[in-house]
Parts: sequence; structure tokens; C-alpha cells
Amino acid sequence: MYKTHTCGELGVKDIGKEVSLAGWVDRLRDLGGVTFLDMRDRFGIIQLVSNPETSPEVHKALIPVRMEWVIQAVGVVRKRPEGMENRELPTGEIEVELTRVKILNPAKTPPFMINQDEEVDEQTRLKYRYLDLRRPRMRENMILRHRVNMFIRNYLNEKSFLEIETPILFKTTPEGARDYIVPSRVHPGEFYALPQSPQQLKQMLMVAGIERYFQIARCFRDEDQRGDRQPEFTQLDIEMSFVDREDVMDLIEGLYTALVKEITPHKKLLETPWPRFTCKEALERFGKDNPDIRFGLELKDISEIAPESGFRVFSDTVINGGTVRGINAKGLGDYSRKQIDELTEYVKVYGAGGLAYLALTPEGEERSSFAKFLTEEVKKQIITIMDAQPGDLLLFVADSQEVVFESLGRLREKLRDRLELVDNETLGFCWVIDFPLVNYIKDEKRWDPSHHLFTSPMMEDIEALDEDPSRVRGQQYDLVLNGHEIAGGSIRIHNADLQEKIFALIGLDMEVARERFGHMLQAFSYGTPPHGGIASGIDRLCMLLADEPNIREVIAFPKNQSARDLMGNAPSPVEPEQMEELHIKLALD
Ligand code: AMO
Ligand code: AMP
Repeated sequence: MYKTHTCGELGVKDIGKEVSLAGWVDRLRDLGGVTFLDMRDRFGIIQLVSNPETSPEVHKALIPVRMEWVIQAVGVVRKRPEGMENRELPTGEIEVELTRVKILNPAKTPPFMINQDEEVDEQTRLKYRYLDLRRPRMRENMILRHRVNMFIRNYLNEKSFLEIETPILFKTTPEGARDYIVPSRVHPGEFYALPQSPQQLKQMLMVAGIERYFQIARCFRDEDQRGDRQPEFTQLDIEMSFVDREDVMDLIEGLYTALVKEITPHKKLLETPWPRFTCKEALERFGKDNPDIRFGLELKDISEIAPESGFRVFSDTVINGGTVRGINAKGLGDYSRKQIDELTEYVKVYGAGGLAYLALTPEGEERSSFAKFLTEEVKKQIITIMDAQPGDLLLFVADSQEVVFESLGRLREKLRDRLELVDNETLGFCWVIDFPLVNYIKDEKRWDPSHHLFTSPMMEDIEALDEDPSRVRGQQYDLVLNGHEIAGGSIRIHNADLQEKIFALIGLDMEVARERFGHMLQAFSYGTPPHGGIASGIDRLCMLLADEPNIREVIAFPKNQSARDLMGNAPSPVEPEQMEELHIKLALD
């Protein structure tokens, strides 16, 4: 045994004990010939002291030692002299007077400081991730993530769920992204696809009679990277038989409420039970179907008065089927032209043609890019709808619903950050329900599932499947936390005929459908229970609980923004022999 104790556990109770410790040199300093060495392991930091007079050998052995060297140290715990205590350190009242040290391994000078929370370029951090993970912030994040996983496992175990692993080498499971594919050596020209989720397999487990399944599952999606997206990520995946929407939502609400209480007791829930919005309401009020509900600045609709407003941008838009909506940026009435221009540029990125403004200064004056076109009456109506007071800034976008929601939704969150309207100690969970089952893709002239292929329509809307699919709602639910979608699920189709009908609706050729999903259709004919489930992004949840700005901070070995692992340098070319075995020839231009 290298250690009798860990660096973090010693305290006044241990004074007088001889201990053996092992870890990394966090900090070294020499004060009047006496060497003070902070030793760090996963559990904490402790001060070791070597006095040249009482233990000259130890002192000599420590001469070459530098930061991050790995050493073993034996010594006696003693109280620190009066006034020398370090109140910030749990072990700050004591120190270990060294009697022996052994160097276990020297270390090169690390490319960045481990013991300081200094800003380090992320590419460097990812290249030396094993060093980055030694830093306190990352260690805390790994601990938090472990605790989240353990909590989930225990909670679901108590509720009779079985954790079952499903294959990584399988066939395509579409969730709206591209697949990662793996060539088969033994079946030349054939490929496995890595699962975008265990969706099909968990439904198979319901056919198999498991009734309550969960898995902390790795998923693979080849899609554009963002702060809350990785090519491989982890889901808490759940499926249940003989349930309806409420049962699944209740389970998750109970689980996460208890989890937050246990793992981050300092955080408070904004509202319980969690509010629910229809997809339509979420878009109309917040501009997005994954809203941050912790602050106001909600969107307001002025389309009704736009046609008669006298301002062409507004009236033409509405006459052509668009909409005019705005945000009351409370208290920003004194924003300068330059500041407003900056916001205008911001919404243009999301497709808005411009940002019309009406600023009511605290002194009761007004500045506006369009008020000159309006009658007093129309202006008054706008001010009433927008609930505006002197000192407010009203910002409007006129365009298609899609563009108006996207640009104002983004603007709302930009103003949130700029005005510091939220604090991360508040958790604003909400459910979003009643999504359309399918969305029409104009360019491809076909319907596309808004969740996935296996989501059941609302039974009361099923009649409309033939006449007007846009009217059919799916039995789908999304869970949103502080503006991030952290879970999504649905009640599934459990009937082969309805499943075939949905395949046809989305333009999946029956032959292709049978080839890809024939196993599901077949399984459904052998006695399938009604079932439904949900999957929740563990990375996103941990990111929000740890107050981190992106999910890379809570993943031990993440890919960078161009889907590359910088530490192992993956992806990378493979040997020609390997390619030959796989019967693959490259055709790079
Ligand atoms: P969905 O595709 O909505 O549903 O995914 C569920 C949750 O997984 C998280 N997530 C991601 N996290 C990080 N990086 C990504 N690239 C990424 N993509 C998704 C999100 C999301 O809410 N099979 C269905 C679930 C079901 O119907 O039961 C599914 O995968 O938090
Ligand atoms: P213009 O007539 O182009 O000078 O625009 C007058 C004002 O309307 C400016 O403040 C523009 O930013 C704004 N504007 C232009 N197009 C739109 C639009 N689609 N939605 C909202 N405001 C717009």
C-alpha cells in the first residue's frame, strides 16, 4: 500500500499519527531553508514540511523535485503553529512533518498550471486533457457527473427498472442526423451503423416484455457541432410499457426533482409542478420551443394592427401572410442608435430583414425608425399591446413566422445575457407538448417527423392523417431546462399498420422501409404492449448543474468543434492493409 490515508481526509483528529501519503506535487516553496510542499491527490491537498535539521535526507531527496512530480511521503501529522493555519483548506489546521520521501515519477513541466484556474486555450486543454482533468474545476465536474449517474441508477432501480445494454454495432436508427458507419470485414460491402439512439432496441425490449428499461447509453450523431452538441454523447434512455404520456412525464419530473435536491441542493426550482406549454404557446411567447422561462421579455403580436399601420414593412408582411411581433426591452429606452444597430445586425443573422424600433425615453420623448408613418391612434395601440412605459425600448421584426420566432427568440436571450436577467442558481424546468407529428419540407415535397418515425399521433387527431397531416399532433413531449432541450420522448406506435402508414406519409418507399425497419414491423405483429419513453441528455443536464458554458466541460474526453479528438488525434488514416481487408478504396479528390 502506498497510502494509509488520502490527502483530503486528515485533520486535527489525526495529530500524532504516522501516515503514508502519495500524490502529485501541487506547490513547493522554501522559507528560510524549510521546504513546504503541498501534495495533491483526488481527495484533497495537504501541506508537507521538511526541515533540514531534523531530517536532512528528506531535504536532500526533495532538491530535484518539481511541480507535478509523483511522490510518496511518510511523516507525522502535527498541528500547524499558531497563526499559520489555512482556513480555506479542509486540512488547513495540520501539516505532515516528513520522515521519508520516495520519488515515484518525475514530470515534465506541464503546458499550463494545474493548481490555478487560469484561462487556457481550449485546444491546448483538449490536447493535454489528462492534465486538464487534474485541475479542480474538471475534477469537480467529473465527480458531479458520477453522482448524477449513480443517483439515476439507484432511483430507477428502486422503481423496478432494468438497466440493459444494447448494441453499438447495429443498423441505422434515424434521429435526424447522419449516421456514423462501420464497415464489416466478414461481410464485404456491408456496414453497421452506430446508433443515433437505442430507439429501436428499446422498443424491441418492450415487445420482449421487459416493461421498464433504462440505460445510460452512448449515442452517435454526425451533425454540426454546437456548444450543447457532441458527435457522441450520453443519454439517460428510458422505455416503459402500459403507460401514457402523463406516466412518463411524472417519472422524469420525480427523478429530476429528487436529483437536483440531492446533487445541487443550493439550486432552486423556479416553479413546481413544472409548467407545461404547447409547442405553439412556447413559440408565441418565447420564440422557441426550448424556452428559457426564468425571465420575461416575452414576444407580443401586433400583426392585427399592422395592415392599417401605414408602415409598409409591417403592412406588406401581414398582407403577404407573415407576422409582426416585438419585444419590450424594458428600461432600454435610452439605448443609442449604435446599440440598436448592433441588435439589428444580430437579428439579421437569423434571417430578419431589419429591426424596427420605438424608443420611449424616460423623459417622455420618442425615437423611432417607423413611428413617423403611424397615426397617433396606431402608436397608442402598439404601446398598449407592448405594455410599454417611458424608458422602454420596443423592437419589432416583420417576416414569416419562422423568421420572426427565430430572430426574436435569439434576441430575447441576447438581452437576457446583456442585462444579466438570470442567475444560474435557478432551474427553470418546463415541458413542451403538442408538437405537430410531421412538418412539411417544401424543397423535398414530403413530410418529415418532428420527433422520430416511431412517435404515435394523438388518437383524436388520427382522422386528419389522410386529409391534412399538418393538423395531426404527436404524442410527444420535450423537457427544457434554462433554454436547453434536455429530454425528448413520446408514446410510440405499437401497431404495424399505423407504422406502415407513417412510413408512407413521410415518403419512405415501402421496400426501403421493410429493408430498414422490417424487424420492427414483424416484432409488432407478435403481441406488442402499448409503450412510450423518453431520453435525456446527460451531458446537457450536467452542464447546467455545473454552471458550465458548454458540454465539453462535463465530458472527460470530448471532441473539439470540428469533431476531432485532439489528444489521440482521431480521426486518422488507417493502414492500407486494413482498407484492403475491408474491401474499401478511397476516392479522394
Ligand atoms: P432526441 O433526439 O430528442 O430523442 O434526444 C434526446 C436528448 O438527447 C440530447 N441530445 C444531445 N446531447 C448532446 N449532443 C447531441 N448531439 C445531442 N442530440 C441529442 C438532448 C435531447 O433532448 N430516441 C429519442 C428519445 C425517445 O423518443 O425516447 C431521442 O433520441 O438533450
Ligand atoms: P427602411 O425602410 O429599410 O429604412 O427600414 C425602416 C426600419 O424598418 C429600419 O429600422 C429597419 O431596420 C426596419 N425594418 C426593415 N425591414 C424590417 C423587417 N422585416 N422587420 C422589422 N423591421 C424592419
